[in-house]
Amino acid sequence: MSTELRPVLIRGAAPYGEDPLDLLLADGVIADMGPSTVTDARAVDAEIVDGTGLVVLPGLVDLHTHLREPGREDAETVETGSRAAALGGYTAVFAMPNTDPTADTAGVVEQVYRLGREVGLVDVHPIGAVTVGRKGERLAELAAMANSAARVRIFSDDGDCVSDPLLMRRALEYVKAFDGLIAQHAQEPRLTEGAQMHEGIVSARLGMTGWPAVAEEAIIARDCLLTDHVGSRLHVCHLSTAGSVDVVAAAKKRGTTVTAEVTPHHLLLTDERAVGYDPVFKVNPPLRTASDIGALRRALADGVIDIVATDHAPHASQDKETEWDNASPGMLGLQTALSVVIETMVRSGLLDWRGVARVMSETPARIGGLRDQGRPLTVGEPATVVLIDPQAVWTVDADALASLSCNTPYAGMQLPGRVVATYLRGRATVSAAVLVGG
Ligand code: DOR
Repeated sequence: MSTELRPVLIRGAAPYGEDPLDLLLADGVIADMGPSTVTDARAVDAEIVDGTGLVVLPGLVDLHTHLREPGREDAETVETGSRAAALGGYTAVFAMPNTDPTADTAGVVEQVYRLGREVGLVDVHPIGAVTVGRKGERLAELAAMANSAARVRIFSDDGDCVSDPLLMRRALEYVKAFDGLIAQHAQEPRLTEGAQMHEGIVSARLGMTGWPAVAEEAIIARDCLLTDHVGSRLHVCHLSTAGSVDVVAAAKKRGTTVTAEVTPHHLLLTDERAVGYDPVFKVNPPLRTASDIGALRRALADGVIDIVATDHAPHASQDKETEWDNASPGMLGLQTALSVVIETMVRSGLLDWRGVARVMSETPARIGGLRDQGRPLTVGEPATVVLIDPQAVWTVDADALASLSCNTPYAGMQLPGRVVATYLRGRATVSAAVLVGG
């Protein structure tokens, strides 16, 4: 914790969108908080930020980010991804291991962790691969990654499913020793061979090979049962169907230790987007139907789905701007996630700001085992917060995003809500644009 940081006094901002307060950020913590200008002596030298009309939340935590380093630094780096994250209001991200080389050893996860520390814009926590090279053949050195400087607790072969039930069982058993969890990319491979989009009316009309909902639901059901059997912890990545919601709800009801995430794009966009064959809308799992979206939104509101995770998946133009069949699946998410959640969940009345803090900060931090992120906005807690202008409306410009890649599905769209400033332990990673003095 740095003592040379200049204190920041945020005047009249609304924690969780409730009554406006002044917040003094000093020495890396929320040093004072009150209804009128804080009287703390440190406020005298503080940089003043006019928080009128702004909402304060704990810094956002993304459990599912692809930073592409090492190996695909033409698509994203830890630095550019961290910048996109901070601009999106994030203060911590978990980096998926489908890099080149795969993050399946202590050496690679430590490299990613170290790069994150050097950049210093968000806390970067590497996720380790479950199997060597994510090939689904034998377990990676999970304990070595857990015991490394990166202290890995989440393991995933994301991009691919750990489809072998015996390997999945062993992985669930193994991570119990260090309170880890397996984050499953639920996709039955045989049922999705050659799949290009959601299997349904639109795929039939377009003549594209479909990715049936049951390919996701069957793996989630199996893994919940395996988790019960082993007594371990399962996290389900990017839940995308109404049937998956039912499977997770039933498992939670009987006490399965399972958590689930939904992406912003699965809350907003449907498979109808494939009609123009624009590969920017190709993603895995694919965009589903309007009724799936309805079920996902309700499940996020009522807690069956625990969190929003971006699945930020940058791709270089040569991999993305090609014909649909050959294009890599995935879309950018870090800089637009909060706005999409405001659009789909807050404006519809399904979540209030406390709810947004829960699904985008507190619960992801808890699932990931972070002790100093997703903390309540109270005196003495880390000054790791985001300031949001909920009234702002902005038009997404793909070229203006901080990511090295441009594959946002929201280009040209108007979205509500903008991040005004992000603070990581009292240090501005995104500076307040609404200064009134200091
Ligand atoms: O669309 C996706 N892109 N889904 C995944 O699971 C992997 C990701 C990527 O790495 O590009």
